[in-house]
Amino acid sequence: MEKEHTVTPEDGEDTAILKVRGLSKTFDHVVALDDVSFDINSQEVLGLVGDNGAGKSTLIKLVSGVYRANAGKVVFGGRQVEFNSPRESRDSGIEVIYQDMALVDELEVWENVFLGRQLRHGFGVIDRKRMIEEAASLLERLGLGSLSPTTQVGYLSGGQKKGVAISRALYWDTRVIFMDEPTAALAVIEIQRVLELIERLREKGVAVVFVSHNLKEILGVTNRIIVLHRGQLTGILDTKETDEDEVIRLMMGGEN
Ligand SMILES: Nc1ncnc2c1ncn2[C@@H]1O[C@H](COP(=O)(O)OP(=O)(O)O)[C@@H](O)[C@H]1O
Ligand SMILES: [Mg+2]
Repeated sequence: MEKEHTVTPEDGEDTAILKVRGLSKTFDHVVALDDVSFDINSQEVLGLVGDNGAGKSTLIKLVSGVYRANAGKVVFGGRQVEFNSPRESRDSGIEVIYQDMALVDELEVWENVFLGRQLRHGFGVIDRKRMIEEAASLLERLGLGSLSPTTQVGYLSGGQKKGVAISRALYWDTRVIFMDEPTAALAVIEIQRVLELIERLREKGVAVVFVSHNLKEILGVTNRIIVLHRGQLTGILDTKETDEDEVIRLMMGGEN
């Protein structure tokens, strides 16, 4: 029998929607993540930076149930969680948007928004009309009103696809969204759109974890930044109080 979980602030912190404590992951002899701890607050954009191989994607996969940690814990919404699959974490309110999002090109926008979680009438029949309407109003709220919910996703630009993925996340009452390099391989104008969407999500009370190699983007859109170097956390920075030089220094390990 699971005991009753309550929100118990740790470390004097009570606005954290997600707490990561001592998370570690080893692949054979590679220590991909080593005893990493930090908090993610609601209505916060947290930057996650580090060189290739620093452990950024591993961290996201541990929190979202793709991998199992060797040590450490994740506390989400006040209770310790251990997801066995990305599906489980998503159903609880943690969404991950990868560079190649799991959208189906052959399906229409609304079908992608409701993929695997269709709305039905009381008597079990799929409610297509309502899903199209809901998708349209979501897109509208995200400033993507020019996008028709009945367009096939394969015809959309990279930035528009990201918009669809984010709409999907918003609809399903997502509390935390991890975006693993969402701006990589996008045109400049589309990067701007994605950054605006991140801003909208924050306004809606979602916590966003944003991974990017572009420090200008990171410094422009985040509230705080966490830095990884070879699996170790080398810094938790207040964006207003840091600069590119400091971030780069911590990305290289933090000495000098
Ligand atoms: N599935 C895996 N099997 C073996 N090694 C892995 C696996 N995933 C990641 N790694 C290793 O873990 C380290 C961190 O990788 P990753 O989390 O992908 O870094 P990042 O996303 O910061 O580039 C790297 O050394 C990488 O080679
Ligand atoms: Mg990665």
